[in-house]
Amino acid sequence: MKREVIIACDFASAEATYAFLDQFTEEKPFVKIGMELFYAEGPAIVRALKARGHKIFLDLKLHDIPNTVKKAMAVLSRLDVDMCNLHAAGTKEMMSAAIEGLTRPDGTRPILLAVTQLTSTSEERMHDDLLISGSIQDCVRHYAKCAQEAGLDGVVCSPLEAGLVKEACGKAFFTVTPGIRFADGVVGDQVRITTPERAKEIGSDFIVVGRPITAADDPVAAYRRCVKEFE
Ligand code: C5P
Repeated sequence: MKREVIIACDFASAEATYAFLDQFTEEKPFVKIGMELFYAEGPAIVRALKARGHKIFLDLKLHDIPNTVKKAMAVLSRLDVDMCNLHAAGTKEMMSAAIEGLTRPDGTRPILLAVTQLTSTSEERMHDDLLISGSIQDCVRHYAKCAQEAGLDGVVCSPLEAGLVKEACGKAFFTVTPGIRFADGVVGDQVRITTPERAKEIGSDFIVVGRPITAADDPVAAYRRCVKEFE
């Protein structure tokens, strides 16, 4: 599978999303729909962006009892998204149930990824709040292996952790990485960041890029720069 840039469409409404995407007249970027846009607009926004020809990563990070996740995944599968995700912390049993729910009668299914540790969680918070000992890297490695054993296709992780995931789970196991910034760009609230070029070197298969593209003066040029550096 070829490396791809995914644009995080972190907008509050369908109108704002269309206004942004209408600027792309020559390409159909792979887009990520997160909680904000999905909760505001519902499944209709997924169908609309699919109809416009975009591939879709539906980033809803499911985490519930196995039966509930299985049934929810069946609904997302019928929405025909290309990629979706859940929290590895939900256990292997939950992840296996998710795969079952996601698999269509013809055997096909969207790519399923596990969120390991959110990049906003520091090691201190992981120890003190979550009561998980060891390093973040140990936890990411372990969660990635559990996800692989449950049959998932890859993980969402920091680009700085993509290498250790590949080492633990093999080259074919996807790493999808947010926290991307241009070398000369604004960092904002992201902490563990890297450039598209460096993410490629470390082993990301997909980079998820939000503000460096959505807040750029020329989003199309920023997207093309990302593609040029990464793909
Ligand atoms: O604007 P920015 O490039 O920081 O956007 C990154 C996107 O990736 C956002 O939609 C954010 O919610 C998401 N994300 C993240 N870190 C994670 C998981 C998801 O930044 N660990």
